[in-house]
Amino acid sequence: MHPIDTSTSHTPKSYELTQAGDRYFDGLVDKFSRSLYQAPRGELRLAMLDYLLPQMLRLTEQPVLDVGGGLGQLSGWFAERGHAVTMAEPSQDMLAHASAWHAERSAAGAWLPEQLRYLASPLQLLPQQAPGPWSLITCHAVLEWVGEPEQAVQTLASLLAPGGQLSLMVFNRDALRFSNVIKGNLQKALSDHLEGKGKRQRLTPISPVTHDEMCQWGADNGLVMQAVAGIRVFQDYLRHPPAEESEQASLLALEKQYCRQDPHWRLGRYLLYTFTKPEADV
Ligand SMILES: C[S@@+](CC[C@H](N)C(=O)[O-])C[C@H]1O[C@@H](n2cnc3c(N)ncnc32)[C@H](O)[C@@H]1O
Repeated sequence: MHPIDTSTSHTPKSYELTQAGDRYFDGLVDKFSRSLYQAPRGELRLAMLDYLLPQMLRLTEQPVLDVGGGLGQLSGWFAERGHAVTMAEPSQDMLAHASAWHAERSAAGAWLPEQLRYLASPLQLLPQQAPGPWSLITCHAVLEWVGEPEQAVQTLASLLAPGGQLSLMVFNRDALRFSNVIKGNLQKALSDHLEGKGKRQRLTPISPVTHDEMCQWGADNGLVMQAVAGIRVFQDYLRHPPAEESEQASLLALEKQYCRQDPHWRLGRYLLYTFTKPEADV
């Protein structure tokens, strides 16, 4: 997967939460891109997805619905592997950057332009705008930016075809507590007021979730948890970030080795799940 250069974007404006309590990423393109995808942690996230998705999903070039696709890396990853991708994203800023980058990549021969289609839509409107049902849905790092993550899981489950797969990546509340303690924010951790408010340009998620919640919400919606992995199980806790390329490579090797092993995956900054919807009874 490739980082995206957003250096040409406009001065960010100030945005607040939507009425539903969601944080669309309008005005955050530069900040999000700089603090994640142009930094080692973004590189690691993409490398880990590149490693894990082929293990955790049955990929047969089926059509994909990418919900809250952001800057479009994941949609591009699937397009490069022959999938037709519908990328849904409510932020016009993110959508504009993603589609411009995709156009460059397809002009360079990475995929056919008609493989990608865009919907300027929040998850909540997808039952009307893209009812599917879909055999593969991805929703990465979105739940933590909506006011009602439990309802979002219900909506995603309703869009899945029987036998379909949902690749869901969420921001791990337990890891957020752990990293706050390590950074010395002891009172914050003690009071357990960990979530952000979604104001201005802050990127602390407003709805981090726990593994227990994911188990419950999946089961409540008739989904079967097939696999789970932690993304960035070590990186955020390092006292000294890797200084050399060889150290970066060793860190990636460690992340790969332990991302699916108990207890390490449980403290990954993100938790990556594959859920499936059982085939209908015949
Ligand atoms: C942290 S970014 C993740 C982007 C991308 N999926 C990734 O993994 O890089 C969160 C994205 O969720 C989008 N978002 C916020 N509320 C949403 C909603 N209700 N429905 C769909 N996407 C939403 C934001 O606009 C933003 O692009």
